[in-house]
Amino acid sequence: MIDAPSSIILDVKNLCKNYHSPSGTLNILHDVCLEVHQGEFLAIMGESGSGKSTLLQLLGTLDSIDSGDIKLQGISILSLSENKQAALRNRSISFVYQEHHLIPELTAVENVMLPLLIQGESKQDAKVRSEQILIRLNLQERLQHPPTRLSGGEAQRVAVARALVTKPALLLADEPTGNLDEDSAQIVFKSMQALCYEEGTSIIMVTHSPILAAQSHRMLQLHHGQLISIQHPEEKL
Ligand SMILES: Nc1ncnc2c1ncn2[C@@H]1O[C@H](COP(=O)(O)OP(=O)(O)OP(=O)(O)O)[C@@H](O)[C@H]1O
Ligand SMILES: [Mg+2]
Repeated sequence: MIDAPSSIILDVKNLCKNYHSPSGTLNILHDVCLEVHQGEFLAIMGESGSGKSTLLQLLGTLDSIDSGDIKLQGISILSLSENKQAALRNRSISFVYQEHHLIPELTAVENVMLPLLIQGESKQDAKVRSEQILIRLNLQERLQHPPTRLSGGEAQRVAVARALVTKPALLLADEPTGNLDEDSAQIVFKSMQALCYEEGTSIIMVTHSPILAAQSHRMLQLHHGQLISIQHPEEKL
């Protein structure tokens, strides 16, 4: 396990989220507080329906909070217009989901190039960087494959490359290995961990796998709307 450096990248205070439905109000998150340091790797576990995906959506500024605050790199998202929130999100946060969400008409390398092109990089530079990151993930023989000609684990590694090619400050990963067998899950996980470690990217990963969670810096559980620390296996030694 690597020691986490100390500057705070994400500071969450008293976050609350309710959903309203005809049958009443669902209190999903109550007073969630969380500090994440640069380069830190957190695993969040919790029962199905406990609000893990809801929390990641809020941290990623993809949904609105009911009360509390989220500071990303010292900037309160409440102080920003929707456009400025989107600009901060595009610059600083990337996402990986259980499904790879690659564009089927594009090759692996073209999928990875896309966020760089959106950020205004030249096609030539985007191609070079995308090839480099895919080679780093041992996908040198798969650069020109469309998603339909990739295995589940390979497609998920391409999704990891696409998320990290822009060098975000924070990666939010919602069950990134949920569809994979144990060996492929470990390979995808290690790819994600290595790239984030090299760039000092912080990771918040939701997982149902205690084996993967135990390889993070810190394990948390979402229970009855609150985040609680769970003892890391290394602390039991
Ligand atoms: N848009 C919505 N409107 C109303 N209720 C919602 C909405 N989105 C989620 N919920 C409810 O909020 C709760 C938390 O959902 P969430 O998807 O965050 O759970 P989760 O912990 O990610 O579960 P899983 O492990 O199954 O992915 C669930 O009970 C769900 O039904
Ligand atoms: Mg979920």
